[in-house]
Amino acid sequence: MLFCADPLRPRSPDAHFAREAEAVAAFDGTVALVDHDALLRGDAAAAVRRVPEGLGPAWYRGWMIPSARYAQLEEALHGRGAALVVTAEEYRRAHEFPGWYEIFVDVTPASVWLPTRPGVPPTPAALAAATAAIGGGPGIVKDYVKSRKHEWDEACYIPNLFDVAALHAVVSTFVERQEEDLAGGVVLRRFEPYLRRPGHADEIRVWWFDGAPMLVTAHPDAPGEVGAPDLTRIAPPVARLGCQLVTTDLALRADGRWRVVEVGDGQVSDLPRETDPSLLLERLVRSDDPIA
Ligand SMILES: Nc1ncnc2c1ncn2[C@@H]1O[C@H](COP(=O)(O)OP(=O)(O)OP(=O)(O)O)[C@@H](O)[C@H]1O
Ligand SMILES: [Mg+2]
Repeated sequence: MLFCADPLRPRSPDAHFAREAEAVAAFDGTVALVDHDALLRGDAAAAVRRVPEGLGPAWYRGWMIPSARYAQLEEALHGRGAALVVTAEEYRRAHEFPGWYEIFVDVTPASVWLPTRPGVPPTPAALAAATAAIGGGPGIVKDYVKSRKHEWDEACYIPNLFDVAALHAVVSTFVERQEEDLAGGVVLRRFEPYLRRPGHADEIRVWWFDGAPMLVTAHPDAPGEVGAPDLTRIAPPVARLGCQLVTTDLALRADGRWRVVEVGDGQVSDLPRETDPSLLLERLVRSDDPIA
């Protein structure tokens, strides 16, 4: 298992992942560390400097990595006799919106996307042409990976997708505030009303391994009861996605249907503090063990 190193103590896992690294050690797994800062700077060789030669197949658990940087990590590890279990192509498919959207189209809000570069919002005309495909009414904007949900009114929520001036204003604010972190482009999604139930998590995170649900947690930002969601309509697209470890964040729509708010690569999905990390890590460690 590869974890992010603590930036100040490069021989220790980052404190955020320390209990996960302890769980790996408890299952006799091997822990190795990568330098996430070096990777983001584009210095993949420095990022893997502390990975022992000949490590073999490895999972990653750590902070999100832009897909292009993940590909550099894959290559740098290859040079040291280690291989990421999740290929760069699989990582991008689960991590970036255009990789999973078509597969989940029946169970996720209708959406369109416009590739762009950091700092360059699409023109009003391009936005208007894009929203024609999903209709008017309320929507949200995000990039291929992240929203600015904590800046809801200024940089996330769009009251009416057909109000081109207001749409362009929110999208421009979003692009500006994402700065160099803008991933891939702009995604526009129809807003759907989700239920908030007292005591229940607003969003639940289902962790899938080999196409089967292995763990259900709350979304880390939405603690509460998770219950037993009906996954009948969610399991088939997860299987079609074909990635070994993925998460689906689900919300209950006002009509009682579970909807996929977001798909993620399970290596970079956060576990809530209250979840026992061995529920995730035992499976990952054992999956690498040829005699298991
Ligand atoms: N189409 C939608 N309809 C209604 N609410 C939405 C929609 N899309 C997103 N949201 C709300 O905005 C939040 C953020 O959206 P999303 O999960 O796609 O972005 P994110 O920034 O990747 O979030 P996370 O913190 O989970 O990584 C969701 O948790 C949900 O509450
Ligand atoms: Mg989310």
